[in-house]
Amino acid sequence: MHRLIYRSRATGVIDKDTFRDILYTSVELNRKYGVNGALIASRTHYLQFLEGEYEIVEKTYAKIKEDKRHSEIQLITFSPVEQSLFTGWRMRGFGLFGLNLELEEKLKEKYGVEEGTIRLPDEEAAALAIAEDVDMISIFHQ
Ligand SMILES: Cc1cc2nc3c(=O)[nH]c(=O)nc-3n(C[C@H](O)[C@H](O)[C@H](O)COP(=O)(O)O)c2cc1C
Repeated sequence: MHRLIYRSRATGVIDKDTFRDILYTSVELNRKYGVNGALIASRTHYLQFLEGEYEIVEKTYAKIKEDKRHSEIQLITFSPVEQSLFTGWRMRGFGLFGLNLELEEKLKEKYGVEEGTIRLPDEEAAALAIAEDVDMISIFHQ
């Protein structure tokens, strides 16, 4: 199994509707092709985790890269992994909007601020850490 993580910039402002549309499509398609993963969105950026067989993940990523809803796509990692972090999740979503103040402040302090919103990481360890901070995965306590 392989895991791919990328970060991108949304073409427009990300709101709940935009985010929900992307998640609906992704869940359907990922179920069909056998991809698992998660998508974190701030108001301006996406951070996505895709897991599955190498070729399927590569094809899915190639398709996603062509999507006009985002640009400035930065590949963070694409490597073999022993364990899935998103078993049972075709595309788990977490929007960093409307967070409680305490969590918002904590994340801003830890990951930085960009355009007034929490900065999504562009490096693997921090990407996994933020997924853990929003309770999407639990890797450091296993
Ligand atoms: C941020 C973002 C994440 C996406 N994630 C996925 C995904 O995990 N799986 C997927 O099949 N499509 C995903 N898409 C949608 C694809 O870009 C594309 O619209 C979709 O696969 C339908 O393509 P098709 O109609 O050409 O088959 C994502 C799009 C965006 C903007």
